[in-house]
Amino acid sequence: MADFKIAPSILSADFARLGEEVENVLAAGADIVHFDVMDNHYVPNLTIGPMVCKALRKHGITAPIDAHLMVKPVDRMIGEFIDAGASYITFHPEASEHIDRSLQMIRDGGCQSGLVFNPGTPLHYLDHVMDKVDMILLMSVNPGFGGQKFIPSTLDKLRLVRERIDASGRDIRLEVDGGVGIANIAEIAAAGADTFVAGSAIFNTDDYAATIAAMRAELAK
Ligand code: DX5
Ligand code: ZN
Repeated sequence: MADFKIAPSILSADFARLGEEVENVLAAGADIVHFDVMDNHYVPNLTIGPMVCKALRKHGITAPIDAHLMVKPVDRMIGEFIDAGASYITFHPEASEHIDRSLQMIRDGGCQSGLVFNPGTPLHYLDHVMDKVDMILLMSVNPGFGGQKFIPSTLDKLRLVRERIDASGRDIRLEVDGGVGIANIAEIAAAGADTFVAGSAIFNTDDYAATIAAMRAELAK
């Protein structure tokens, strides 16, 4: 069975109690903290930046932090998130002027690098950089907000990326983000994903452990 990882998106957490929320969701069985960075320019929303990432590290969070940069320009934020203690740094290729350089900056900073594809973004951005990505993130909603509905065409796109990853022979995580929950996580996994971002599906429930356990039960079927 694939090494499945659950990555709660803290976009749907209670920001007034963020440290506690992150501790709780990790204690509930989450593997990775998905950290959504929005700039009111590349996407129509404004969230949190490197200072908050650094604060979580200072608070004692040691789990991997997956910084999903929905920002333009990209490169300045890469250095900030390396310094802030991010583990993965992913960005949208069309928001970077020099994709290869941005990926290399992430690697040089000791972080895992990744490209993010919106539902309408073509996969050809992968063509010449497969050796420089540690993660490929497919958006299954248009970025900017939590709580949107999963776009079904993502399943075909996941199958295409899974083929490319398998053909590369490299250990690249395939993450999916947007509208993921207990009801659809099994079919998303069957299409090839191994890392599942879920915001509202986890944080809008009372019992994070029960929700994450139900997701894992679906993945084990
Ligand atoms: C959307 C963000 C997602 C979002 C997912 O732009 O990248 O990570 O928080 O939220 P849900 O799981 O509620 O769709
Ligand atoms: Zn995200």
